[in-house]
Amino acid sequence: MKNIVILISGRGSNMQAIVRAAKSEQWPCRIAAVISNRADAEGLAFAAEHGIATAVVPSKSFPSRDDFDAALRAEIDKFAPDLVVLAGFMRILTPAFVEHYAGRMLNIHPSLLPSFPGLATHRQALAAGVKFHGATVHFVTAELDHGPIVEQAVVPVLPEDTEHALAERVLAQEHVIYPRSVRRFIEDRLSIENGLVRVDHAAGKPATT
Ligand code: GRF
Repeated sequence: MKNIVILISGRGSNMQAIVRAAKSEQWPCRIAAVISNRADAEGLAFAAEHGIATAVVPSKSFPSRDDFDAALRAEIDKFAPDLVVLAGFMRILTPAFVEHYAGRMLNIHPSLLPSFPGLATHRQALAAGVKFHGATVHFVTAELDHGPIVEQAVVPVLPEDTEHALAERVLAQEHVIYPRSVRRFIEDRLSIENGLVRVDHAAGKPATT
């Protein structure tokens, strides 16, 4: 039985989608903990209501990024994670932290990487005039919003779109691809070869992408 630890900073809708899918599809894993760097993250209440251990490691209480990452790592490792899932976790992580979880830490980014890394991705997409936008699940590497791509979802950008409308359209797809990617990891169907992710479509359920 694999252990998953999910990190959030806010509302945690991706975390909720993963928790719901794990339960309804009876994944062979345990969501061991939901950890936040902010005590006011709305998603913590959902996790607690679902009987999941929660913890807060407040980023503001540490003198340096290294100190925070060391404390966060200690908290995460209490739960012996096979997989760490970043779900709207709004902190840049140090290379040592990332290295510790190499090959077992996933992130979701609200753009079609490598386009639009960083913040305000929907604004960036509208400003660039792209006709398609989306979201990317990727393994985390030391370079921000890079790393081997597991799965992407594409949405159209419509002429009348606002940042909010576009964000909502992308988020709906995030809730589809993130649980599916996590499930594939749990089922040992993801491997990284030469920096690219290979999905074993032969194992598990028939692939839908
Ligand atoms: C999502 O758009 C995710 O891609 C980005 O931050 C947002 C988090 O939303 N990294 P939520 O906290 O999962 O609802």
